[in-house]
Amino acid sequence: MPLLEVRDLIKDFGGLRAVDGCSFSVESGSITSLIGPNGAGKTTVFNIISGTIKPTSGRVLLGDADLTGQAPHAITRHGVGRTFQIARELGDMTVVENMVVAAPARGLLSVLRRDILARERSRAMELLDFVGIAHLADEQAKNLSYGQKKLLEFAAVLMPAPRLVLLDEPSGGVNPALLEHISARIEDLNRSGVTFLIVEHNMELVMRLSHTVVVMAHGDVLTHGPPDAVQVDDAVLDAYLGVA
Ligand SMILES: Nc1ncnc2c1ncn2[C@@H]1O[C@H](COP(=O)(O)OP(=O)(O)OP(=O)(O)O)[C@@H](O)[C@H]1O
Ligand SMILES: [Mg+2]
Repeated sequence: MPLLEVRDLIKDFGGLRAVDGCSFSVESGSITSLIGPNGAGKTTVFNIISGTIKPTSGRVLLGDADLTGQAPHAITRHGVGRTFQIARELGDMTVVENMVVAAPARGLLSVLRRDILARERSRAMELLDFVGIAHLADEQAKNLSYGQKKLLEFAAVLMPAPRLVLLDEPSGGVNPALLEHISARIEDLNRSGVTFLIVEHNMELVMRLSHTVVVMAHGDVLTHGPPDAVQVDDAVLDAYLGVA
């Protein structure tokens, strides 16, 4: 059963059609990767799903809910999480404070409720432990290494307990040992029922983690299928290398 369905998405930036009739679905409980050459439109599709930009036309459906054109916070409430860059102003807060800020807003009064704050802090600590940076909870976020920031970003996305997590290039700038650690956590979460849609250029990682691979080129879906079939598809080789 599809959890996420993207239908006939089009996105124009001025005269440039960045996404051109893109349709695909993400099976509930799967790890699905979205791959394709630079400029294929992958990040633009992510931005549309997570609500940071609106499509020119087309639909984004999550189960029975129509997410098309909804604001990012509304999409988060539907259970879709997305990695985000840690904002500069949040660098002055501690790691655990960054986590609590990422929790779903329950209205202004709730921040004054000590019991809610305590619950969120304890969930934050659990998740920091899960990604392996609980010992840094009281460190200023700005003092973290790049890799530690990646782990904080990953943990923060999990705060609202998303059903679907969108990761844009989780391997970017990450060393092999840390990448191993991150991919193991993705698999743990997936076994516990979290669905993933991952944009990634590291083909070894894509082929190892994914149940389904969706290949984009020129704003549209070229092909999709299990990793071993996509890997040997002539049209995919052609899109990447201009051969075949
Ligand atoms: N805000 C924008 N304004 C104008 N053009 C944009 C904008 N965002 C993306 N584009 C263009 O849309 C096309 C698709 O870009 P997008 O970032 O979605 O590709 P991508 O598949 O994520 O590429 P990469 O693998 O390099 O990250 C590119 O030609 C890009 O230059
Ligand atoms: Mg991109």
